[in-house]
Amino acid sequence: MNETIFTLHFFYVISQQTIQQIQSRIDIIEIIGEFIKLKKRGANYLGLCPFHGEKTPSFTVSPAKEIYKCFGCGRSGNTIGFLMEHEKYSYVEALKWLANKYNVEIEETAVSPEVKLQQQLADSLYILNGFAGNYFKEQLWHSEDGQANAMSYLKERGFTNPTIEKFQLGYCLPQRDAFAQTAIKAQYSTEYLVKSGLVVERDGNFYDNYRGRIIFPIHNNTGKIIGFGARVIGKADKAPKYINTPENEIYIKSKILYGSYFARQAIDRNDECLLVEGYTDVISLHQAGIENVVASGGTSLTIDQLRIIKKYTNNLTIVYDGDNAGIKAAKRGLDMALEEGLQVKLVLIPDNEDPDSYVNKVGADQFKEFVKENKKDIILFQLEISLKEVGTDSSKKAALVNEMAETIAKINKVEDFTRQQDYIKQCAELLRIEESGLVNLVNKFIREKVTKEEQKQQAASSNEYSEPSGFEQPVDDFEAATLLNKDELQERGLIKCLIEYGQKEWDEEQKVADYIFYEIDDTGLFENQELVQLFLQYKEWHEQGLEPNSKSFLYAENRMLSEAILKILDMKYELSPNWASHFDGKIPEKDALYKEETLSTLLYLKLRKIRKMIEENQRDLEKPHTMEELKILLETHKHLKDMETELTKTVGSVIIR
Ligand code: UTP
Ligand code: MN
Repeated sequence: MNETIFTLHFFYVISQQTIQQIQSRIDIIEIIGEFIKLKKRGANYLGLCPFHGEKTPSFTVSPAKEIYKCFGCGRSGNTIGFLMEHEKYSYVEALKWLANKYNVEIEETAVSPEVKLQQQLADSLYILNGFAGNYFKEQLWHSEDGQANAMSYLKERGFTNPTIEKFQLGYCLPQRDAFAQTAIKAQYSTEYLVKSGLVVERDGNFYDNYRGRIIFPIHNNTGKIIGFGARVIGKADKAPKYINTPENEIYIKSKILYGSYFARQAIDRNDECLLVEGYTDVISLHQAGIENVVASGGTSLTIDQLRIIKKYTNNLTIVYDGDNAGIKAAKRGLDMALEEGLQVKLVLIPDNEDPDSYVNKVGADQFKEFVKENKKDIILFQLEISLKEVGTDSSKKAALVNEMAETIAKINKVEDFTRQQDYIKQCAELLRIEESGLVNLVNKFIREKVTKEEQKQQAASSNEYSEPSGFEQPVDDFEAATLLNKDELQERGLIKCLIEYGQKEWDEEQKVADYIFYEIDDTGLFENQELVQLFLQYKEWHEQGLEPNSKSFLYAENRMLSEAILKILDMKYELSPNWASHFDGKIPEKDALYKEETLSTLLYLKLRKIRKMIEENQRDLEKPHTMEELKILLETHKHLKDMETELTKTVGSVIIR
């Protein structure tokens, strides 16, 4: 959510009331039904998944739970999540879309003065850029100079009128301050003019920054102009070829992919994103009908750019000039891309051409064909190049083997496991080494990485909770891992109780939630931090008297909350309607047992924690101690054992499971 870079939506704070109003009206079947055909199947609805190609429907929507899940590709979410995924909306955009649909008036709550200021600043820059964009367009199309110099140049390069219009290209007159004067007359403040990079100040005078240049507006994902690239006409001998907008509140270079506004739907459709270097490459390819293309702006890829691509597709195809420094830049982005789970291919354009000139030379069909035939997996590509460099030098080759193993180890998404195996096989072959040896080496790097990450996490969490833990880390990693998993089950069970039964009556005086919060007043008991967040958020809402339920989490702006709740509300466990009829409607109502379930969940959770403490205490006992320390440890042990016995007795008497 927070990664939706282009819309600075965090400046809009939609009030909780509005969100609740929208929530209460959402009909997930109606909303999703607008985009795909759904058929009723028992309690759920079924359709063809819009997120992956399929012929038999496995996309399931549960109106009761207000969630969807595709059993084919595994995607799941709520109505807002669906709109975000399918329509590529940000959270706020999705809410606004729903508000519009259900005629809910959006109330924006007051935000802090700093945020307000930020918001105003950003808005002002958008407005100014919009104004400038129009002005430059006007000069290109309707000034004599624009026609004679800029338009003729663009035409010479083969750009058609519809293309020039679509990308809103413009022209800045060569006079020193033609634009600055117009903008000042139109009441734009010089402060913003300078901040936007449109104008520069020298000795109290304001000059146009892009004099005599062709203007390429750069859009965010909602189509607003965030900045400009300004190109000299013809060859750049003296001045730099492009002048770009300086970094400001809305122009953040590391998060920009030129053309993404025009490309996003095509990227989705093709399930592939082509990455080129320049503005003109994007525009020429578009003109040729190849629209799933964005440009990095000639610098090496950043993690933010990769994440933007990843929102649309996992398949990134880099299309660069053959002899280019860009290849190095692409390689640098490679490790990041792998870690993000992107499948990266590389195509090099031959004969000193770039994508722009090449598509103009050979035409769209041949260009597409060339890309299709020549794209190579970038890892193997890298290996082939390196192998040539290494030659027969055996120490260099050893280094290369290591390097490849490290790269392959970066593929760390579970679903990419087969891919990793494939790479190992192919690389071993190319390197002419034993496959098993490479497997071992890759595993070594994976282990190192895991250890490093654990250390990082430990460091982070010991910073967060500065209280001394007093216990050593568990010796046996495997043991610790299994222990943790089981703990998580208990913890998850408790959260489930809280959400499902929290607002039910516990006794005359309190609700189930009150009882749970009384019993668990220390979230230190929890291992899973995601669940802690759910727990604490529930508590906060409960204390505000909001009567939270699963929907409150499902529609929370904090994506983590809605994703965490999805894991708990698993549709798989729903009884099928066939089942119900089979039992002639006599399935015991789960609800009737809610107190027992809550109680036993709580007890099991506590019991597990106690057992863990006992184990830890025992491990501690095995180390050398002074008599005094030993005494304390033994006392602790006895105390814990007593508690365990007590709890076991209660558990036994409550419910056996
Ligand atoms: P190119 O030199 O390939 O430019 O730089 P281009 O966009 O293909 O332009 P034409 O085809 O020569 O007209 C690739 C990208 O690098 C950035 C721009 O984003 C450009 O699109 N760049 C290049 C700059 O920012 N400044 C420069 O001076 C040059
Ligand atoms: Mn070019």
